[in-house]
Amino acid sequence: MGSSSGHTRIGIVGCGNVGSTAAYSLLLQGTGSELVLVDHDPRLAEAQRTDLLHATPFSHPMRIEAGSWEALAGCSLVILAAGVGQQPGETRMQLLSRNAAVFADIIPQVMRHAADPILLVATNPLDVMTQVATRLSGLPPARVLGSGTMLDTARFRSLLARHFEVSPSSVHASVLGEHGDSEVLVWSGAQIAGLPLAEFADARGRPLTPRTMAEIDEGVRRAAYQIIEGKGYTCYGIGAALARLARCIVHDERAVLTACALAPEVEGIRDVALSLPLVIGRDGLQMRLMPALDAGESEALRASAQVIKDVVSSLGY
Ligand code: 2OP
Repeated sequence: MGSSSGHTRIGIVGCGNVGSTAAYSLLLQGTGSELVLVDHDPRLAEAQRTDLLHATPFSHPMRIEAGSWEALAGCSLVILAAGVGQQPGETRMQLLSRNAAVFADIIPQVMRHAADPILLVATNPLDVMTQVATRLSGLPPARVLGSGTMLDTARFRSLLARHFEVSPSSVHASVLGEHGDSEVLVWSGAQIAGLPLAEFADARGRPLTPRTMAEIDEGVRRAAYQIIEGKGYTCYGIGAALARLARCIVHDERAVLTACALAPEVEGIRDVALSLPLVIGRDGLQMRLMPALDAGESEALRASAQVIKDVVSSLGY
């Protein structure tokens, strides 16, 4: 893996709204020295390459290629954003059979050409696809990560930040479990300035009522549905999350991110991929943490793990 100043070649498989926005986010933040775009429609990959190239004078120098599978040679990090997205009203889980078939095609190709990469999964249903990618790639689970609830955590923090009128970077709060309907907002451990939310709410004069909490929960859990109703897809949040995850790996940051990885056991459920706080560095997952949860949150995390496990089992994994 390249260092912050060295050479890092990052592949992106699937150049639709998510893959191309991830590429744009990587370019704006200057992560990686080479980007390789691969899509089943070569004209789309080439068009995205050209469009991105025109942003380089305003951002960072980056060698950008569009190519076929062979172009993934030398990629130490490959973002998997191929597959279909939700239509209005559709759940993430309803994408399963179509996207599992896409991964059965693309993962062997990625593994044939990129030597010992770290895979970053963005395709929904995210947790199941991360588990599928782990199995199909044969890579150690530490090298197959999904964006997971990084996006939901960002939504939670941004809504809390707006309510309390503070910077989102000063809000410490997480969403765990499925990147989907059963996800768990960890209210009990949320803090601002080292204070539990209720205390910060008093100090700030911005009460956290049950109604406000319900609105924030809805705003996090239903965010994608609302965005898809309006514009047909989501891209900026997920693009920024993928770039953040890539930066953490490329720079060996060891940041704690709520990303998805296969876990041996969560709340009594064995071998399930879901999001927990993970320390992430150059070789992927370094350490998995289980934060303190209240009884309701523990039960909700167990139920979320069960939802994913049932779907994975139905695929025969
Ligand atoms: C999102 O949450 C659709 O999973 C995607 O934005």
